[in-house]
Amino acid sequence: MTKLNHLGIIVDGNGRWAKERGLSRSEGHKAGAEALKNIILYLSREKLVKFLSLYVFSTENFGRPAEEVNYLMDLFLKWFTTVKKEYRKENIKIYFSGRKEYLKPNIVKAMDTLEEETKNNTGLVVNFCLGYGGRAEIVDATKKIVKKVQNNEITIDDIDEKLFAKNLYHELPDVDFLIRTSGENRISNFMLWQISYAEFYIPKVYFPDFDIKELDKALLEYENRDRRFGKVK
Ligand code: FPP
Repeated sequence: MTKLNHLGIIVDGNGRWAKERGLSRSEGHKAGAEALKNIILYLSREKLVKFLSLYVFSTENFGRPAEEVNYLMDLFLKWFTTVKKEYRKENIKIYFSGRKEYLKPNIVKAMDTLEEETKNNTGLVVNFCLGYGGRAEIVDATKKIVKKVQNNEITIDDIDEKLFAKNLYHELPDVDFLIRTSGENRISNFMLWQISYAEFYIPKVYFPDFDIKELDKALLEYENRDRRFGKVK
């Protein structure tokens, strides 16, 4: 059985899902949030993966119309303040990855509280990539490392891939399987360091329609992938 430790999902297609139904983009995001809730609980309860990284808002997404950005930020805020109790019960641990300085203080506060209140949980780790960019993460890690060299905590010779990975936003294993909904064949700056050997899966369905059945289909596909990591079997 192929072990799926870290699953990444690039959430995509909320807007097109809404447009096809004559709804507003906000309605699409609301439906996407429902789909996301179901996926998280399913993966947690069935213990199907240990780590789940979700690309829910990129650094580039700040360039969307203010109305949409504000709607999404309100949705995040509401979600992060209401799921606390449930995630404690479900033993889910929350991480956030991204540049918090780009976000409003009330959201950052809700994020910090959620991270703090779930930090001792030992079940599924859900890593929300919010205000996130893969290149930004690499730049931020580089700055951290340079500071450590300047402070004589480490020397240049200590820098290797392992040390670099430890200085990313969180110490996470490599992504094994990456799903991008809505049929788009792009990475869009998602976890560039961690996806080196990830297997890709790009279903046609828009994210709000990515239900448990679709997820099971994806997981089954992963089981059948032949991962060689550049070697010969
Ligand atoms: C991409 O679809 C989706 C987003 C940028 C937002 C993702 C947000 C959610 C799923 C909402 C809930 C999340 C939480 C954590 C509460 P798109 O709008 O780019 O779709 P399009 O390409 O069809 O326009």
